[in-house]
Amino acid sequence: MITLLPPGVEVEEAYGDLPDAPLHAGEAEVVARSPVARRLEFATVRHCARTALGRLGVPPASILRGAAGAPQWPSGVVGSMTHCPGYRAAVVARAGAFRSLGIDAEVHQPLPDGSLRMIASPAERRHLAELPRLGAEVHWDTLLFAVKESVYKAWYPLSGTVLDFADAEVVLDPENGRFSARLSASGPAVDGVGPVSFEGRWRVVDGLVQAASAVPCPP
Ligand SMILES: CC(C)(COP(=O)(O)OP(=O)(O)OC[C@H]1O[C@@H](n2cnc3c(N)ncnc32)[C@H](O)[C@@H]1OP(=O)(O)O)[C@@H](O)C(=O)NCCC(=O)NCCS
Repeated sequence: MITLLPPGVEVEEAYGDLPDAPLHAGEAEVVARSPVARRLEFATVRHCARTALGRLGVPPASILRGAAGAPQWPSGVVGSMTHCPGYRAAVVARAGAFRSLGIDAEVHQPLPDGSLRMIASPAERRHLAELPRLGAEVHWDTLLFAVKESVYKAWYPLSGTVLDFADAEVVLDPENGRFSARLSASGPAVDGVGPVSFEGRWRVVDGLVQAASAVPCPP
């Protein structure tokens, strides 16, 4: 994940759960009635987040779930978390450097039958069909899904509004591992201004599809 994010973003990953990862105040209550697997991923990804926060010089803090599930970061910090089978990751940065971050990881396998139609516009489906294979096969449908999830995770803390999959039109750059996502004019706006474009990076590694969006602060 580190190679997908610009300097100034701290990244911590785990390729399995850490059974002894401690929970901080208020966190145990969030997952008290959840299955063991959910409690483990919840604690492990927060351990990753606190490790990354430590590199920013931010003391360990609880990371609770706020509106619509968005993580509540310590003051002055932006960040994002993801977990999928075999992988957990957290990214954080100073709010003075980045307005928002969004990451997503998925197992590198095709989406279930019928899912692409629910997440992709006709133009995006044509785009995916035209993408070259680049030697190793890329499951472009799952990549598109991960990109949209990463955009949403960066978008929500900025806007406080939910995005439909149809609100973002994504173009993948298959050669340079980049993407752009243009939010539709009818979609929600940042600071009253729209439409908004997100730029990000993606890669396929270790059986995973990873996507990351970073919104820098204006210079
Ligand atoms: C919330 C959502 C993005 C999570 O993605 P996911 O692939 O299912 O799961 P991941 O493990 O990658 O991510 C889960 C983490 O996302 C973060 N998250 C959840 N809701 C969030 C939100 N509204 N904003 C930012 N981050 C959020 C949390 O950190 C969560 O981890 P936690 O529950 O341990 O705190 C997804 O379930 C969802 O609701 N998608 C529909 C909306 C959407 O993506 N629209 C696309 C618009 S283009």
